Amino acid sequence: MVRHLISISDLSREEILEIISLSEKLKDERKRGILKEYLKNKSLAMIFELPSTRTRVSFETAMSEMGGHALYLSWNDLQLGRGETIGDTAKVLSRYVSAIMARVREHSKIIELGKHSQVPVINGLSNLEHPCQILADLLTIKEKKGGFDIKFAWVGDGNNVCNSMILASAIVGFEMSVAVPKGYEPNEDVVNKAVELGGNVEITNDPLKAVDDADVIYTDVWASMGHESEREKRLKIFRKYQVNSDLVDKAKSDVIVMHCLPAHRGEEITDEVVDGSHSVVFDQAENRLHAQKAILLRLIS
Ligand code: CP
Ligand code: NVA
Repeated sequence: MVRHLISISDLSREEILEIISLSEKLKDERKRGILKEYLKNKSLAMIFELPSTRTRVSFETAMSEMGGHALYLSWNDLQLGRGETIGDTAKVLSRYVSAIMARVREHSKIIELGKHSQVPVINGLSNLEHPCQILADLLTIKEKKGGFDIKFAWVGDGNNVCNSMILASAIVGFEMSVAVPKGYEPNEDVVNKAVELGGNVEITNDPLKAVDDADVIYTDVWASMGHESEREKRLKIFRKYQVNSDLVDKAKSDVIVMHCLPAHRGEEITDEVVDGSHSVVFDQAENRLHAQKAILLRLIS
C-alpha cells in the first residue's frame, strides 16, 4: 500500500525520529558541499490552492538538489479550477510523477487526493494540519535543546500548526501547554486523539500558565489563510496572547521562541522577540529544506 503523509499521526515515533536523523545527515552533507542525486529522474507535483513561500521553495529546491524535478501547479491553472474532480486529477498525476504535495483549504481535499493517488501524497498544509512544518520544527528543537525532554508552550490560535504539534507531542512524548482565547481552541478530535495516544496536553486561556517553565514558546498568525476577513475581530480577542519580551521573560531563561512564518510582526509576535536572542525562526525556516528532503526520500525511494 502506498504511504501518504497527510497527518503527522501517519508516522510512528520511530519514523519521526528516523526522518529527523535523516534530515540531520542531509543537512550535514549539504554543508560539506555534498549533494547526491538520491531522486534522479523523479518528479514531484506540487498543487497549491493557497500562497506559499517556504513550502514551495523548500520542496522545489529539495527536489532539484536531489537530482529530481518539481512542478509548481496552481489549483486554478489546473483543470481542477474548471471542475475536474480531485479523484481524476490524482489518478492522472499518479501516471506521471513519483509523489504529489498539495496545499489545500479544506483537509477533506487532501484526504480525497490520497484516496485516489497511486503515489504518495504529502500534506503541504490544510486547514486542519501542517505535518511538514512540524517535522522541521522537531529537527530544530532537537538541534537547540538536544532532544525532547521539554515543556512546549503554544500561545495564540489553536490552528492547523497547533493541531499537528499537539499530535506530535503525544507521539514523540513531550509536555505541551496550549494557551488560546475561549472559542479558538485546537480541533477537538485532535486533542482527543492526542489523549488516546497518551499525550500530556493542557489547554488553558492563560498565556502565563502556558509559558511557565517552558523550554519552547511557539506562536503563529492570529488569522490563518482563509480567516483573513476575521482579522480585525481577532486582533482584539488575541491581544493578551502576544509573544513579547514580557511573556518570554516568564519562561525558562534559555527558552527558544519559534514561529512557522510568515509572521505578522507587531501582532502575535513583536519585532524585539522575532529578532531577539531567543528566536530561532530563521533556523526553523531553513530546516524546512532539510526535513522536506528526508520526507521525500522516505516516501519516494
Ligand atoms: N511555514 C510555511 O508553511 O510557510 P509558507 O506559507 O511560506 O509555505
Ligand atoms: N496557520 C497558518 C500557517 C501558515 C504557514 C495558516 O494556515 O495560514
